[in-house]
Amino acid sequence: MKSDIQNIPPVDSSRRKWLKAVGLGAGATALAACVDSGVNELSAAGMKTDHFPSATPNLNDGLIRLSSNENAFGPSAKAVEAMKGELFNLCRYADPTTSVLKKKIAEQEGVSEDQIVVTNGSSPILFGYADWITKNGNKLVTSMATYEGVPRGAEFMGADVTYVPLDANMDFDLDAIEAAVTEETTAVYICNPNNPVGRALDPAKLNAFAKRVSQKTQVFIDEAYIEMSDGYPGNVQSSLAAEGYNVVICRTFSKIHAMAGQRLGYAIMPAAQAKEIGGKLRMGGVNYLGLVAGMASMDDHANLNKMRDMVKVERSKLTAAAEELGRPYAKNPQGNFIYMDTGMPHDQFAEKMRAQGIKVVGRTWPGYDSWSRISVGTPEETDACVKALKTVLA
Ligand SMILES: Cc1ncc(COP(=O)(O)O)c(C=O)c1O
Repeated sequence: MKSDIQNIPPVDSSRRKWLKAVGLGAGATALAACVDSGVNELSAAGMKTDHFPSATPNLNDGLIRLSSNENAFGPSAKAVEAMKGELFNLCRYADPTTSVLKKKIAEQEGVSEDQIVVTNGSSPILFGYADWITKNGNKLVTSMATYEGVPRGAEFMGADVTYVPLDANMDFDLDAIEAAVTEETTAVYICNPNNPVGRALDPAKLNAFAKRVSQKTQVFIDEAYIEMSDGYPGNVQSSLAAEGYNVVICRTFSKIHAMAGQRLGYAIMPAAQAKEIGGKLRMGGVNYLGLVAGMASMDDHANLNKMRDMVKVERSKLTAAAEELGRPYAKNPQGNFIYMDTGMPHDQFAEKMRAQGIKVVGRTWPGYDSWSRISVGTPEETDACVKALKTVLA
């Protein structure tokens, strides 16, 4: 493939047209962009044009998508190559036991394979876990604001959810959460770094909290964005699972691995629970390309490190804009988004940003009506967002 795209001029729309004309198409265009730039801007080149029109809503609406905490830098070029090599094998079912991926995760996280549940994205685990709560005492303690997967799922299924307010730094108030836990509590849900706030907890404090609180109830730590944080890998909490504490550690390939559409996620939990929850979630298994790409991406350490750096650069543009505009925001964000008080109802802000060509998150969290979460994009996308912010919030 590489030889096909040598000596091609820099990527621009005329080049894309030329590539199409000579029959190399969108994949080659994107790959050429990737090779040229030295970073995997595959999706930056590939997502804007020539994508399969109905694969996701409104991808053709011309807006810059900073609404879903997607990783606009695109997947590892090695993951893409691995997938390309396996496309024809999509006629086969994927390994229903996901044994090779589990072995890889087990080695990386120092846990045993029977503690791991693998699903198509981590959302099925969050909802499977919500279901497990309803059958095991029905009481969850978490905070507002946080990612809704587990709490809203649990509420939807009839569980009793206690929301403890965030503390003055907009962190999970671990002391207040601990105080809210009773003998009846089924689980505590912590998201670290927390979506939508972006703040990461002090790892030692979270570790000590989990060790204490897991004596009373199960502690679920959603680490969807952990690999993007400055403290990674020193701040991961999977050692708790390895040491036998009553915890669940949840991860996704949607964020740093930039595979949101590909769907792959996993959780580490006590083996008996993994058997129970994993058994229910198996339902037809994990998708073939997810496994292929996920394993290739896990091995591409250089890419993951580069991703962390690139996300940080874009994130700092957004925090600098918030500073310059004098808007309150959750300080020192550690995911691929910031959370900012725009001073107006979130839907009004979203509408004004949309008029500037930027799509920000379309929902808010109770108590934070004037706050909006904005994801980072490619350098061009983030720059456009900063420009829009300066217009909308001037
Ligand atoms: C904290 C958190 N957990 C889990 C998910 C679910 O992601 P996925 O189902 O793509 O793995 C998200 C998605 O944005 C998230 O922000």
